[in-house]
Amino acid sequence: MSLIELIPLARCRIGAGTFVEKAGHEYAVFVMDEGKTVRVIDNSCPHASGNLAGGEVTENVVSCPWHQWDFDLSTGLCTHSEQAKVQTYPVTIRDGIIWIDVPS
Ligand code: FES
Repeated sequence: MSLIELIPLARCRIGAGTFVEKAGHEYAVFVMDEGKTVRVIDNSCPHASGNLAGGEVTENVVSCPWHQWDFDLSTGLCTHSEQAKVQTYPVTIRDGIIWIDVPS
């Protein structure tokens, strides 16, 4: 695993997704609970590449804007298909910056 700097927390939308591209990889960042909870997943929906950062968030679940598949933001698991899953990343907040651990 290696730690990468993603985005300042203050630049993220609260209660909605924020799209971040870093080193050619697309992430969706979700800041909830007035900034106390941060989740990061891959942005591309495994169904047909929908933009998950643009999905509606309800509690800890994002609904893909294209065909409404729902993904748990903690596990990445889809409620519509046991075989569909998005990558989730461990998050660290340091000096107001969101960092994630990515596989090496
Ligand atoms: S592209 Fe996400 S549900 Fe179809």
